Amino acid sequence: MSDRVTTATGPSALHTVNLVKIYQTGGLPVHAVRGIDLLVEPGEFVAIMGPSGSGKSTLVHMLGGLDTRTSGEIWVDGKRADTLNESAWAILRRQKIGFVFQFFNLVDNMTVADNVELPALLGGAPAKHARERRQYLLGELGLTDKADAAPAQLSGGEQQRVALARALANQPQVLLADEPTGNLDSRNTRDVLRLIGEVHRQGQTIVMVTHDARVAGLADRVVTLLDGQIVDDGLMAPVRRRPKSGAGDVVELHG
Ligand SMILES: Nc1ncnc2c1ncn2[C@@H]1O[C@H](COP(=O)(O)OP(=O)(O)OP(=O)(O)O)[C@@H](O)[C@H]1O
Ligand SMILES: [Mg+2]
Repeated sequence: MSDRVTTATGPSALHTVNLVKIYQTGGLPVHAVRGIDLLVEPGEFVAIMGPSGSGKSTLVHMLGGLDTRTSGEIWVDGKRADTLNESAWAILRRQKIGFVFQFFNLVDNMTVADNVELPALLGGAPAKHARERRQYLLGELGLTDKADAAPAQLSGGEQQRVALARALANQPQVLLADEPTGNLDSRNTRDVLRLIGEVHRQGQTIVMVTHDARVAGLADRVVTLLDGQIVDDGLMAPVRRRPKSGAGDVVELHG
């Protein structure tokens, strides 16, 4: 399979081969993901869509090593990852993957600032660099005045933005985001999408689950799942080269 993980320009950012997840909880097995072949190039922005229960969260959790696969292969940056144990996955995530969960998973007994700085510090960034990155991200997301608050003191939308800031703290090669705008009003959605557009222009690879067709419209490619399988994939579309200027065009939401 090595010919499929390496392209002329280098290894793909993410690659799955016949990826399957079957949940075995008590009664009947649930076939959440049924043989997904997905190849994401470095710098590509892929939106994952599909109805509730179609396997979107299961897929991105497996891509980030947060859930184990039943069968199939996962490759991250050209290296086989599905065979890694939990601690090896943790190291891989720390080095290469930022994750925004559908339900935010912030550390309750730490301030917003510490929640955002933590991954950078764990990744070995100097304290000054981690602090500057945190200040930049919270500023971009309109959360500067919440830096000293505890997550429980924030609204759902604010917590979601903190979770995005945390995922980007490390400047990870790959951002995996499960409905990062799911709880946001249109203004905060714009802030989140502006930041996502900006990191995308900086070369960030993004795989983002969304229900919102307007949000998906910002992606280079839309992959649609139904019943655990890919039923539509804009694979043939070339990666769109966005102009360096004009961040505004990326965040304009209509309707
Ligand atoms: N831990 C689990 N145990 C058993 N079944 C599960 C588990 N997690 C998910 N499932 C099932 O797997 C299927 C896919 O779930 P998943 O959460 O991936 O869907 P989704 O596309 O993210 O949906 P939503 O849009 O509602 O977030 C569903 O049928 C769900 O009930
Ligand atoms: Mg989900």
